[in-house]
Amino acid sequence: MEAALTARDRVGVQDFVLLDSYTSEEAFLDNLRKRFRENLIYTYIGTLLVSVNPYKELDIYTHKKKELYQGVNFFELPPHIYAIADNAYRVMCTEYNNHFILISGESGAGKTEASKKILEFYAKTCQTTEQLQVVRDRLLLSNPVLEAFGNAKTLKNDNSSRFGKYMDIQFSYTGAPVGGHILSYLLEKSRVAHQNHRERNFHIFYQLLEGGDDELLRWLGLDRDPLLYHYLIQGECAKVSSINDKLDWKTVRKALSVIDFTDHDIDNLLGVVASVLHLGNIQFIADNHGRANITVDKQVRWISKLLGVHVLVLQEGLTHKKIEAKAEEVLSPLSVEQAVCARDALAKAIYGRTFTWLVNKINQSLANQDATRKTVIGLLDIYGFEVFDVNSFEQFCINYCNEKLQQLLIELTLKSEQEEYQVEGIQWEPIQYFNNKIICDLVEQKHKGIISILDEECLRPGEATDLTFLLRLEEKVPAHPHFLTHKLADQKTRKTMCRGDFRLIHYAGEVTYNVTGFLDKNNDLLYRNLKEVMCSSTNFIVKDCFVTSELDTKKRPETVATQFKYSLAGLIDILMSKEPSYVRCVKPNDAKQPGRFDNVLVRHQVKYLGLMEHLRVRRAGFAYRRKFDPFLKRYKMLCPDTWPNWHGPASEGVERLVKHIGYKQDEYKMGKTKIFIRFPKTLFATEDAYQASKNALVAKLQAKYKGKLQRGEFQKQKKAAIKIETCWRGIQARQDAGKRAWAVKVIKKFIKGFMLRNQPVCPENKEYLAFARYNYLMNLRKKLPKNVLDKKSWLKPPAFMATTSELLRKLQMRTLVRKYCRGISAQRKLQMQQKVVASTLFKGKKDGYLQSVTKPFSDSRLREEDINPKALQLIRNERIKYGVPVIKYNRNGFKPRPRQLLLMQNKAYIVEEEKLKQKIEYSTLKGVSVSNLSDGVFVIHVPCENNKQKGDVILQCDHVFETVTKLCTMASKQNSFNIVQGSLKFTIEPGKEGIVDFTSGHESQVFKGKNGHLMVVSPGHWGLDHAARHTPLAAVLRPTSEEGISLASGW
Ligand SMILES: Nc1ncnc2c1ncn2[C@@H]1O[C@H](COP(=O)(O)OP(=O)(O)OP(=O)(O)O)[C@@H](O)[C@H]1O
Ligand SMILES: [Mg+2]
Repeated sequence: MEAALTARDRVGVQDFVLLDSYTSEEAFLDNLRKRFRENLIYTYIGTLLVSVNPYKELDIYTHKKKELYQGVNFFELPPHIYAIADNAYRVMCTEYNNHFILISGESGAGKTEASKKILEFYAKTCQTTEQLQVVRDRLLLSNPVLEAFGNAKTLKNDNSSRFGKYMDIQFSYTGAPVGGHILSYLLEKSRVAHQNHRERNFHIFYQLLEGGDDELLRWLGLDRDPLLYHYLIQGECAKVSSINDKLDWKTVRKALSVIDFTDHDIDNLLGVVASVLHLGNIQFIADNHGRANITVDKQVRWISKLLGVHVLVLQEGLTHKKIEAKAEEVLSPLSVEQAVCARDALAKAIYGRTFTWLVNKINQSLANQDATRKTVIGLLDIYGFEVFDVNSFEQFCINYCNEKLQQLLIELTLKSEQEEYQVEGIQWEPIQYFNNKIICDLVEQKHKGIISILDEECLRPGEATDLTFLLRLEEKVPAHPHFLTHKLADQKTRKTMCRGDFRLIHYAGEVTYNVTGFLDKNNDLLYRNLKEVMCSSTNFIVKDCFVTSELDTKKRPETVATQFKYSLAGLIDILMSKEPSYVRCVKPNDAKQPGRFDNVLVRHQVKYLGLMEHLRVRRAGFAYRRKFDPFLKRYKMLCPDTWPNWHGPASEGVERLVKHIGYKQDEYKMGKTKIFIRFPKTLFATEDAYQASKNALVAKLQAKYKGKLQRGEFQKQKKAAIKIETCWRGIQARQDAGKRAWAVKVIKKFIKGFMLRNQPVCPENKEYLAFARYNYLMNLRKKLPKNVLDKKSWLKPPAFMATTSELLRKLQMRTLVRKYCRGISAQRKLQMQQKVVASTLFKGKKDGYLQSVTKPFSDSRLREEDINPKALQLIRNERIKYGVPVIKYNRNGFKPRPRQLLLMQNKAYIVEEEKLKQKIEYSTLKGVSVSNLSDGVFVIHVPCENNKQKGDVILQCDHVFETVTKLCTMASKQNSFNIVQGSLKFTIEPGKEGIVDFTSGHESQVFKGKNGHLMVVSPGHWGLDHAARHTPLAAVLRPTSEEGISLASGW
């Protein structure tokens, strides 16, 4: 915030406490002057604000400034009246206590302006609602109304408060301004009838004449010209350039509406105001007997109309007085002088009481109906100390009031503060100051005080006059240092005084009072018959102000001075119960001129306001003190030892606390019951820490509370959940039980159905059968045989579905067969046909056939390139239908020779390399023979009628079933096919036969037997490994023994 200070703000020192030569009055004045020259009208002495009237508008009261000072620590910004206001407000909000701001200074020093600024600050910165806005406006606008009726131009001040005002602003718990209450003190009524030279009556008279519209004035019987009114012309300055009555009238008129004045109220109020003016213009003339008569009855008529009183009664009241003689009431005529006095007394009484009514009325409109507890900030703006050339009873009261406030200030600051240090045992060097108690006592002491003496004189039977009062004073207060009369004064002083004067040496200077009028003003008497006239008024304000009960009481009312004394004592009590803030207003010059700083004048004020003493106490003392208990209670959360509770003595707790916070030794002192903190900044830092930790604590509390709420909520939810769960489980359990009962029924039915499954359909088994049927069909669907050969996997049907199952099975078979057949190619068909042929030829007749079934027949076992091209060349016209490598055993030696057997359309060739070794015409083919064993030998029987014929061909082949089948098929010799057992005869050449013996053995062999037969040995059983049984031709062709070819393994 330091950065926020501009160079201007740093002119001089902002706080006199920082002044190096703080004991020097010169330095003090110098600082004040320097700052005043820079329009820096505010300077602190600690927390007290010194304000110098600038007598010009400064732009330091803008809305922005108000915002700037809102909620900021006191010393963070340049001194300002707003800082004082904000500080009081914030302490009030945080500590929830009552405050007052005492604004003091002499007349024209700026007290009223300061109080208005404070009010504006609150109105702008405090939280508001639409409803509160009304209160806010009323608080603000009560000012122009009260000022119109209670302020007047004096020699000292063009807007001088002629009454004392104490205004309580009430704040709600949340810190919103919710209402207000005003106490008024002793209005200077004498001004109604008389004003000193260059002074005016109360503003309202001029405002009404200047601003009121023609119709209104006509209704009130008034002329616009103030000079026509006796009560307005005595000061000879009805018009003043610095006052804009017309504009002020508008403000007042508007304000009256805002503060809840009806048209009726306003009419009655203005009726009173006009009546006062009319009263002033009533003149008297003495008749022959010296009795007063009213010269012109025009005014009386107007008053009669406006106040609703009878003209004659009023006339009589103004010219006679009622005397009570024994049981009778006698009317005694008044002299002109007495009548004038009675007229003026009436005017003053009406105006004075109407002012009180006005304050009450405003209070009604400011009253807060809500009964909840409020805190208040009181603003005290009272008439300032004033000295005129001629000072009367009013100045005496006003200056006495200022003495009392000075006394309060001394009590609260200088005196009590120093006494406190002593009581608390804080080391302290007393600072001398002037205590004005002696003056207060001089004025108010019982029996001996000036007021008592005045009252005595007022009550004394016999010829008491103002001068006898003066004599009494001289008798009773002969040698008082603050009291002087012409008689008591020394030679030199006597010259400055008249015989009818007495002088008081006030705290603020000497004031010489002229005793003339003291008794009358103190008595404030109004003739009884005039009171009666007022009681009969139909103007409700006047009626309210003059109550008939007043007439009945025989008791003499308290004198004005005594009433004032009591009301001031009441005010002091009010103020003592609150926390104070101080604004000391200083007037820079008497000429009301901006920029003029009159050293002598200011020095005088600095002196009597006790500012130097205050500074010295501040400098040496402590800015803040608090009893241990409340201090600990407030800040205990800042130290873990004291939070949440400290159980030892409070002083120890405080000591522990401040040490923990880190207070330095010179920053505080521990008294007997209080802690004293030297610098405000220390306290502010503590307060900041408190606020911060308060937030943290609140967050914690909030969290705990929310946690509790949530837990409660959770428990509730849990309970509800359990309940719902229970219900739901119940429902589920019931459902389950239902399901189980249903299941039992179904199972029972199922079992019964199962038991009766083989019975004809009846209600008991109907469902079971349907289920079983369905089940079977569904399962069957999944497990249908995938090929025609699969005859075993057909799902076993329940008995009652046997027929259906069989039908379905056949259907399925047919479908599969059809599918299979449709999927077979022509070639495969041929192969199959050949396989069929093979089956007819070999099935059950030759070993190894079964194993061969799964091996498909090949179109040929020779590729074209396997056949010698030359041989191919030889048979080029014919198509080779089948070729297979074979071993040919020659007929005589049975030598095995590798050959190729080529089957053509009509013939077969046996080919050896490029040679066609033998041609066998199918037509001539006699037959084909094989053994019943598993060997691969087959014999092609050919005719052998001539030598050209080579005889039967003995061949061995790996694919004997295939080769023989193809040969038989092509040659259509199925019928000439033989399967022999044991031996086979074959023709070697015409007339010569050979024999092949087929036997079983361990291994497959073909050789020439010792008997000259061809021995073909097949492995004994086909149960042996198939690979072992078949010996490939290549292996056969390998010579192994002398006898021939040894077949390593069987076929
Ligand atoms: N802060 C200010 N800014 C501008 N002008 C000010 C300021 N304070 C006072 N004045 C001027 O000084 C005049 C007198 O001020 P104000 O009426 O407040 O004095 P006062 O102390 O209330 O006097 P009294 O005791 O006679 O009522 C105001 O009318 C205004 O012109
Ligand atoms: Mg004032």
